[in-house]
Amino acid sequence: MYNSKIIGLGKYLPENVVTNDDLSKMMDTNDEWIQERTGIEERRWIKEGTDDTSAVMGAKAARMAIERSGLTKDDIDFIVFATMTPDYYFPGCGVQVQDMLDIKNVGAIDIRNQCSGFVYAISVADQFIKTGMYKNILVVGAEYHSNGLDKSTRGRGVTVIFGDGAGACVLSREEDTTKGILSTHLHSEGKYADKLIVEAPSIKHWVPQIMEAEEEDLSYFPFMDGTFVFKHAVIRFSEVIIEGLTKNGLQKEDIDMLIPHQANLRIAQFIQKKFALRDDQVFNNIMKYGNTTAASVIIALTEAWEQDKIKEGDNVVLAAFGSGFTWGSVIIKW
Ligand code: UT7
Repeated sequence: MYNSKIIGLGKYLPENVVTNDDLSKMMDTNDEWIQERTGIEERRWIKEGTDDTSAVMGAKAARMAIERSGLTKDDIDFIVFATMTPDYYFPGCGVQVQDMLDIKNVGAIDIRNQCSGFVYAISVADQFIKTGMYKNILVVGAEYHSNGLDKSTRGRGVTVIFGDGAGACVLSREEDTTKGILSTHLHSEGKYADKLIVEAPSIKHWVPQIMEAEEEDLSYFPFMDGTFVFKHAVIRFSEVIIEGLTKNGLQKEDIDMLIPHQANLRIAQFIQKKFALRDDQVFNNIMKYGNTTAASVIIALTEAWEQDKIKEGDNVVLAAFGSGFTWGSVIIKW
């Protein structure tokens, strides 16, 4: 058995910055409400007329991650792509990245686990490396939310939160099993699927039904019972971090860097307080990018690394919670 180790990190954010004031011109909202409830100051939304999509942004982030890893595209053995906003109903974005980066005909899968998508993706990739099946895996998280949001006052509870963007890493074989990804922990609770959901288009509610539907059919916009989700998020984040620490004989004081999914700054602050972590032990960038779901953890990890906030030997914890419900954590010895 081997371990896997992150050897290259990359990100891509669309240029177009949308501030809270910009949103208040589209719907009945305001900077004060958004900052107070979520911590978000601005987000990136793909500008109409550009070529960016989840797959395109994912490929851009992936190209950077491969370059920084010191490998070439020809060294990649497998692709795992996490998104809830794929370019097509099918096929997935993973195969598009294989084509866009001209990677040889390796396997490619998509992970559909929303906010915990990247944590699930890295866990899947880790298993392939642990068993020796693959040596270098490209793991991507990317989301293009802005084209699917209700930008009227009706959708303000969800729309102000989401942003577009992508991150990627190259996960590679590590012979020393005391280093790299030490463990991953995944969970789900499907009974709450309807608390955070985009119902359509789906096979149950396909194009003919949507075309016949009344204007009141909102099934193709994200729905979230925000307060309910918030309450579950803080419990599950804590549980799954503790689970990961316990598995590795670590205490909360041993965390050098916690990268929580960027769902809401208030959730991250709650966790920080609960675990008695200093500001330099938790990384947040939701202020700049909003919630980019499957891209959020990997964009944040990339920026923490770019800002020299992660050093060799550090205990790095990734944790996420979201629609499904699904949640998970990853414990890394950097
Ligand atoms: O990433 C996956 C996991 N997601 C999460 O973990 C998100 C969890 N939930 C949240 O982050 C928060 O619940 C939200 C930020 C989504 C909402 O915050 P909240 O404090 O739970 O607000 P609320 O939904 O209870 O709404 C409070 C009030 C309502 O008005 P009334 O009924 O009290 O008059 C809303 O209509 O705020 C109103 N409101 C807004 N006002 C201005 C809702 N959205 C907005 C808005 N601007 N954008």
